[in-house]
Amino acid sequence: MRDTIIEFFKKNEGKFVSGQAMSDGCNVSRTAIWKHIQALRNRGYEIESSTKKGYRLISSPDLVSPLEVEGNLTTKIIGCNYQYQESTESTNTVARNLAIKGAKEGTIVIAEEQVAGRGRIQRGWFSPYTKGLWMSIILRPPFLPMEAPKCTLMAAVAITKAFHELGLTDARIKWPNDILVNGKKIVGILTEMQSSMEQIHFIIIGIGVNVSIKKDEFPEELQEIATSLAMEGISVSRTKVLATIAKYLEAQYLDVCENGFKKVLEDWRKLSMMLGKEVQVNEINNSYTGFADDIDCDGNLMVTLHDGSVKRVVAGDISVRAMKEK
Ligand code: BTN
Repeated sequence: MRDTIIEFFKKNEGKFVSGQAMSDGCNVSRTAIWKHIQALRNRGYEIESSTKKGYRLISSPDLVSPLEVEGNLTTKIIGCNYQYQESTESTNTVARNLAIKGAKEGTIVIAEEQVAGRGRIQRGWFSPYTKGLWMSIILRPPFLPMEAPKCTLMAAVAITKAFHELGLTDARIKWPNDILVNGKKIVGILTEMQSSMEQIHFIIIGIGVNVSIKKDEFPEELQEIATSLAMEGISVSRTKVLATIAKYLEAQYLDVCENGFKKVLEDWRKLSMMLGKEVQVNEINNSYTGFADDIDCDGNLMVTLHDGSVKRVVAGDISVRAMKEK
């Protein structure tokens, strides 16, 4: 019903629509229309009302509902199934449950807010209402489970390219799964998988993009280490960000399925902010520093320690040390 009312407004852009016309069109009473208008206002729609002329839409909130996104996605696979929620605990959890039940490859699970967003290493992910893209994509790739970690690199490359197209040319990748702008985090990626020894059943690529969060809206502990597209001077709708990311991710994924990860690894090296820099690696029971020299063909980070030995980092929390280059 609310969607029908919004469609009415969209068809009559900038004009008043009478309550009677809406009630006739929706086959409900004018009181019911009034209640729905109130509900839309509570969701952030600015609607003017006049006893004589009816209702007029002044502005819409930056939603990613199917109605707002329809016609903007140019992809064939990613977004072929669009699961929208106004609020959820974590889109990765929803996507996982859907994938177990057989959801199609390319399914997007997206929410206006997450109340228990999840990050890597048991961390949380700040996901306020309509201020970012909180979404998870289900893939069912044909390659072996040992290749799966490279899907995170693939997503990071695709998102960075999308940001460059949107005008954020300073966006760079920090291994394995962060996108930073001038040292501050703007995107996090959480990849989860279910597989047997020889076959991937599904991969969930969870993507969190800070779109319009302002500095003072972040929790205090994030204010100096996080940023958003808006804070970097990029004013863009969430739908546009979604469509641009989907476009690059699909192109990258199709290329990987056909030709392998060679191109992703090459692009990753070009878009990385850490190669040649001194890094501190924090593993569960170990911590050391060295220079991040390269990623290997499996996507592991190669770190040359100060004694000349080379460590292959498979998983860990990395911090880039201030300005020290090789
Ligand atoms: C990280 O940097 O630690 C990864 C953060 C990943 C956040 C996204 S938001 C959408 C999806 N749902 C989640 O609960 N997490 C991912």
